[in-house]
Amino acid sequence: MAGDSTDSDGAQGDETVVRRDRFSGGPAREFLSSLAGDERIFEADLAVDRAHVVMLAEQEIISDEEAGTILDALADVESAGHGALGGGEDVHEAIESAVIDHVGPDGGKMHTARSRNDEVAACIRYRLRADLLEAAETTLGLRETLIEAAAEHTDTLMPGYTHLQPAQPITVGHFLMSYASTISRDTARLLDAYDRTNESPLGGAAFAGTPFDIDRERTAALLGFDGVVANSMDASSARDFLAESTAALATHATTLSGLAEDIIIFANKGYVDLSDDYSSTSSIMPQKKNPDTLELTRAVAGDAIGELTGLLSTLKGLPRAYNRDLQRAHPHTFRAVDAVVEASAVAAGAVSTATWNESLLADEAGAGFSTATGIADLLAMAGLPFRTAHEVVALAAEEAEDAETSVSAALLDSATEEVLGESLFEYVDRSAVESALDPAQSVDSRDSQGGPAAAAVESSIAGARETLSADSEALADRRSALDDAETALQEAVDEYV
Ligand code: ARG
Repeated sequence: MAGDSTDSDGAQGDETVVRRDRFSGGPAREFLSSLAGDERIFEADLAVDRAHVVMLAEQEIISDEEAGTILDALADVESAGHGALGGGEDVHEAIESAVIDHVGPDGGKMHTARSRNDEVAACIRYRLRADLLEAAETTLGLRETLIEAAAEHTDTLMPGYTHLQPAQPITVGHFLMSYASTISRDTARLLDAYDRTNESPLGGAAFAGTPFDIDRERTAALLGFDGVVANSMDASSARDFLAESTAALATHATTLSGLAEDIIIFANKGYVDLSDDYSSTSSIMPQKKNPDTLELTRAVAGDAIGELTGLLSTLKGLPRAYNRDLQRAHPHTFRAVDAVVEASAVAAGAVSTATWNESLLADEAGAGFSTATGIADLLAMAGLPFRTAHEVVALAAEEAEDAETSVSAALLDSATEEVLGESLFEYVDRSAVESALDPAQSVDSRDSQGGPAAAAVESSIAGARETLSADSEALADRRSALDDAETALQEAVDEYV
């Protein structure tokens, strides 16, 4: 049966022994080998091997005894660990060689009805699932931190910026919730990427299927995959799941870099004080407290974007089906996930331990006539076209700047006279103008859905808490499906050993 069928590419059966004789060395040996980096998929490969062997026995492609000996050998390989593997082109070949060393040539039956091409694709997906869940979990932690900090600061005024210029007063709670909202979509993108990663390519073989009566659904179920990647060529060679996952990671890293940058700027202005744990000092200037952790967080976006670019450049223009270029594809994603998970957790720590300088923030909230839009809104509500209202307020702002004073109701009145030939107070009460000039009242007035008024922020906090708990459940469901599959695989293996 399968043991003696080989091909030059995704060979089957006793290929390892054949390869050992013919391709044992050469100057490019190191260059060809992915064995060291494959440590990350060592456990994945053992699981994939086990599921495949169980299925082969269930389908009577190999005998129960053969399955038992191979599964025993795999247990030994696992306890010896990745470091104990002999040399080889990759972890798949090295584990197979170790199994053959343990049980003799029949160990080679493990590779019946598959190829390293579907095998490696299954291993990458299997391992990446855990990484994506960890990444999603980290985003949940960061969201929780942002939401809790926002809940404490629904009344803490601060200046809001556009173009880095003071624009309109907002609150710290509103600012923090803006990031919690973006990051909830980062979580969703990671979970989406997870769902498309969590499909089994196993059984695609080299790329053209197999004549053996395999059960692809069974190996998929034993490995906790939600289904199979049906087309065998697609299964063995497509890496769009890596592109999607890395893009989701790079997107989250980009969000983090914006958050880090904002807090760096706010720390510079004295608006926020980072805990010593998240700061560094200078080796020469003893007074310095630098936001290094956030600067590194900001830089991780560069790493993640670089990995995404590297990955897409590797994949671009690759013909179907398997090409060895693919060996250099998934390491990009693994490096990206490691960097981004770390940065996301650090950002959460920096935010949760930071203190906001409430009195300075309140003083600055109205700086630069940041309530101007509120005055224009007030005039527009009184029936003036918004464009005319804008003109009046702009003139008052200009006059205040020339006179080096702040905008007052009196100044606004004289600007209204200039533009309209009428008093401002024909349109609105003086008290309404005065309250619109006040940053706190300006914030209170902007109570539209999602706006900065305390009640609006509180309701977005309530919504965000609900989404957060739904997302934690979605994550827990995925984790428990994987745990169940691990138990089912162990039980299926126990039938043979
Ligand atoms: N180490 C390879 C990889 O990471 C495994 C597949 C090798 N297949 C082949 N036909 N050479 O992609």
